[in-house]
Amino acid sequence: MDIGTPLSSLSTKVMLLGAGELGKEVIISLQRLGVEVIAVDRYQNAPGHQVAHRAYVIDMTNEKQLREIIQKENPHYIVPEIEAINTNLLSEVDSKGYSKIIPSLKAVQLTMNREGIRKLASEELGLPTSNYGFARSYEELKKLILNQIKFPCFVKPTMSSSGKGQSLVKSESEIKSAWNHAATGGRVDQGVVIAESLIDFDYEITLLTVRSKDLNGEVCTKFCDPIGHNQENGDYIESFQPQPMSKAALEKSKNIAKSITDSLGGLGIFGVELFIKKDEVWFSEVSPRPHDTGMVTMASQRQSEFELHAKAILGLPVDTSLSKPGASKVIYGNHDADHIYFEGIDQALKVPGVDIRLFGKPKSFKKRRMGVILASSNTMESALESVKKAALKIKTKLKR
Ligand SMILES: Nc1ncnc2c1ncn2[C@@H]1O[C@H](COP(=O)(O)OP(=O)(O)OP(=O)(O)O)[C@@H](O)[C@H]1O
Ligand SMILES: [Mg+2]
Repeated sequence: MDIGTPLSSLSTKVMLLGAGELGKEVIISLQRLGVEVIAVDRYQNAPGHQVAHRAYVIDMTNEKQLREIIQKENPHYIVPEIEAINTNLLSEVDSKGYSKIIPSLKAVQLTMNREGIRKLASEELGLPTSNYGFARSYEELKKLILNQIKFPCFVKPTMSSSGKGQSLVKSESEIKSAWNHAATGGRVDQGVVIAESLIDFDYEITLLTVRSKDLNGEVCTKFCDPIGHNQENGDYIESFQPQPMSKAALEKSKNIAKSITDSLGGLGIFGVELFIKKDEVWFSEVSPRPHDTGMVTMASQRQSEFELHAKAILGLPVDTSLSKPGASKVIYGNHDADHIYFEGIDQALKVPGVDIRLFGKPKSFKKRRMGVILASSNTMESALESVKKAALKIKTKLKR
């Protein structure tokens, strides 16, 4: 494995497709290794744009626009950070061998849509999941829920994230509004929704799973300690590591994560989302990239999920060990505004073990994630207490 001088003819070039807060941290990790980084997003001054060598603003579902910048930059690696990307073009780039798609073309293609990944997990690999089905119209959805999925169930667009367009449906009268919400909530309106039965879990985890090369060039799979998290309206608000688990549940979780990531292939980190009840484990979904709940690893691990991804992509060995229990808590914008400012960061940082990341997003929305509070401590519980305490000190304001 070799890395060339950036901004020279020998440079190792990585193009991030999507440059949000997770992409920004991946870029910083790549920059630390002297990699030349190109950040692409759909709006100007995205977090990752602000730390990359070069930045582009395009519609990444548009084949022509994406082709132009890939041809111009000719990156060694293309790292998708979002799902809404023109995968026809990525497939062409992959087959012609122009750039390496991270973690693999298959992973990017299948996870851009809940239908692909769910069918792979359940029907091909036989992994336990909730009961599910897909519907292409309101009538189909109603039939599917009444005859097969039953109540309570979740209805979600097949292309969405952060809980967008998702509803919990408890009775027949709620199906119509769930359909409407899903049809308008997805990133790219495909008019397809998934209905899945509610799993009455005790807790849920993200099992960060890294496929990297060892010194013999063989791909090996390593796991981070399980990350527990709390969700509100399908969006994560707090995460903590390590989540206490029974031996049996952890073993099953690792087997599921190994099975799905082996099948998706390639190099990089995956966030495998699992539901746990006692010793039982269900597969929910997987991100072929760092996971939002995994931001806690910036406080808790020797190498954060972003460093792990950067190293794995480049074919370098990784260390997934925990250094100290940790927790994270999201800072929302709380205002719809062009600019905001954050008050009380100093007070928050006075809480022992606390650190803060503000993402530098240009615009604020009430529920836009603008930053994250991190903490490490001797126990996961006290780290979680620290981030909650720090959160009370921070206010987002429109005027000084
Ligand atoms: N079948 C289910 N049973 C129980 N809870 C569920 C189910 N599906 C979703 N949830 C809850 O909703 C959350 C978000 O669901 P999911 O991960 O499918 O959505 P998402 O839009 O991909 O969110 P994200 O991008 O944040 O992962 C889950 O983490 C879980 O708390
Ligand atoms: Mg999820």
